[in-house]
Amino acid sequence: MLIKKPADLRYSETTPKSVYMNRRKFLASVPAAALAGRELLSPSRGLATTKLPDLVKSPLSTDEKQNTLDQVTHYNNYYEFGTQKDQPAKYAANFKTDPWTVSVEGEVEKKRKFSMDEILKLAPLEERIYRHRCVERWSIVVPWIGYSLSALLKAVGPTSKAKYVAFETYWDLKQMPMATPERSGLQYPYVEGLRLDEAMHPLALLCVGMFGETLPPQDGAPVRLVVPWKYGFKSIKSIVKIKLVTSEPPTTWNISNAHEYGFYSNVNPNVDHPRWSQAKETRLPSPFANRPTQIFNGYGDQVASLYAGMDLKKNY
Ligand code: MTE
Repeated sequence: MLIKKPADLRYSETTPKSVYMNRRKFLASVPAAALAGRELLSPSRGLATTKLPDLVKSPLSTDEKQNTLDQVTHYNNYYEFGTQKDQPAKYAANFKTDPWTVSVEGEVEKKRKFSMDEILKLAPLEERIYRHRCVERWSIVVPWIGYSLSALLKAVGPTSKAKYVAFETYWDLKQMPMATPERSGLQYPYVEGLRLDEAMHPLALLCVGMFGETLPPQDGAPVRLVVPWKYGFKSIKSIVKIKLVTSEPPTTWNISNAHEYGFYSNVNPNVDHPRWSQAKETRLPSPFANRPTQIFNGYGDQVASLYAGMDLKKNY
């Protein structure tokens, strides 16, 4: 670990002891080599990533100081590969992301399966430097690469019945042995959702890379969502299915604890998590929660109108 662990609150605190004990038993029963992963591929970065050329700089980027690649790739939440921050870097190292397809279905004019090649070519790739704020109170600044999710949605044409967009992560116990409720406390596959107008907002990013290269496995390779005005758990990783639907879809953390994790989960200093305040945040690698949290994570000018007239305390 290159960054200090902040004096922070973690989802794992919500995990019942039985889950922890089961996981320990499970980890003890698996040969270390199987979990440690083989040597990583790219000698230059120590990551199995490749350069993405011809990136357009986005006017939507922040000029705040970026976190380092090491920080962004060694402090992750990706429960399919372990619940501790340093585990996804180790256990996702050999995650197979080629071939990969994303099925776009449901209430659309043209249902379609996109290969990764098609996704990479659908729209010009932009570098977007966004603040990324986890509900656990830590935040980072990441130079993501991708384009607005709206480009993909427009390519399939939502029907007039489409009101929400449901997302689903790849799930394979062979590659993700920790992805069971007993071992990591969540139900799988990991699912998320947005209202259609949120999904069509230009800031909602279909993300295929970071730091000039394709996404490392622990950050959601080969394609993830980044919704910078919402808590990080809405930014679902390694997407295989996108379904346009007529009503609010189930979401993983809401299934796990509806009282603590709502569907909207907009970053909001005035709506505390039931067990901790959201007024301040920790900008990694600092261990101190001393930065005021910004409403909508600082993207209020762009997104507040999506929630006009809504009670943000009720629709947390
Ligand atoms: N997506 C999947 N499939 N599984 C996960 O466990 N964790 C979420 C989100 N997407 C998660 C996921 C959470 S809680 C956060 S904060 C962000 O990913 C973390 O993204 P990062 O590790 O790239 O910073």
